[in-house]
Amino acid sequence: MANLARIATVTLNPALDQTAQATNFHTGRVNRVTSEHADAGGKGVNVASFLSAYGYPVVATGLLGRANLEPFEDLFAEKGITDRFVKVPGTTRVNVKLVDRIRELITEINFPGITADAESVSAVMETVLALADDGVRWFVLSGSLPTGVQTDTYRQMVEQLKARGCKVVLDTSGIPFDRALSARPHVVKPNIDELQEVVGSSLGTLEEIVTAARALADGAIELSVVSMRDRGALFVTSEAAVLAVPPKARIVSTVGAGDAMVAGITHGLLSGLSLPEIARLSTAFSLGALGELGPNMLPKEDIEAFAELVEVTELKIG
Ligand SMILES: Nc1ncnc2c1ncn2[C@@H]1O[C@H](COP(=O)(O)OP(=O)(O)OP(=O)(O)O)[C@@H](O)[C@H]1O
Ligand SMILES: [Mg+2]
Repeated sequence: MANLARIATVTLNPALDQTAQATNFHTGRVNRVTSEHADAGGKGVNVASFLSAYGYPVVATGLLGRANLEPFEDLFAEKGITDRFVKVPGTTRVNVKLVDRIRELITEINFPGITADAESVSAVMETVLALADDGVRWFVLSGSLPTGVQTDTYRQMVEQLKARGCKVVLDTSGIPFDRALSARPHVVKPNIDELQEVVGSSLGTLEEIVTAARALADGAIELSVVSMRDRGALFVTSEAAVLAVPPKARIVSTVGAGDAMVAGITHGLLSGLSLPEIARLSTAFSLGALGELGPNMLPKEDIEAFAELVEVTELKIG
């Protein structure tokens, strides 16, 4: 694929995922770790990794703590991601995942991360807008906001990027998601819990989910994708709704299944694919991420083979 478009991802709250295998893990006693693995990540960083693995030139920005930069810098070098992160004092948050293969349990311990000040956030905003002015047309804004960042930061970013004619894919949750909806990002990808939280009611049937997705921002979102873990995902526009169900997958790591889907959706839209094709391919991206440790994806051939196994159904709703 020649001349793929440049894509920028924004991660205001990256994380260092520290995965440790601890067989027969129990609380309240000493547990032995048999193997460990550290992944520089955070949602937008993962999206950047997946897109660069697929051949896109990717620029990643956001906030990173200076105290534990090295794993991030190593990742950017390894993946060929252009690093435009604003470096701030402190430690980027560390998420520990204790994987117990015997009991099939994953225990997570999430440390607090950096506290950002208004100047750092402004520096990220300036970087983002400079990238837009430099010709980047696609922006993926992903993940939560660290302490100290105003909840309407994504709203402002979406507004300013749209004013410059850029396409914005947003994957966040809670109040920052709710606030940003009024700026009408082009694409959103809540999981079912995040959608329920933002609409304030529980959604049982596919019809309820599609109706809620269509109602986001008074129907102004071009594409809303609601992911539902192993139940697949719904791809909803004002005119169509497509359900994509993955085959039973061998799961090596659940890190970044949703982020891989975001990468796949972005790739699908940039490639001008139809909605069912986007649904199929982005689900295959997720499967590709589930089959690899950390924010890594299986090779392109495997992704394309997975795509054939995804069950895609066009729903007649509304
Ligand atoms: N256990 C699983 N088996 C098969 N496919 C899965 C599984 N978990 C996730 N997927 C695939 O990945 C997609 C996205 O996963 P999920 O709904 O968990 O996203 P998410 O909650 O946003 O994840 P993330 O934690 O990365 O943000 C699903 O729609 C599905 O296609
Ligand atoms: Mg997600």
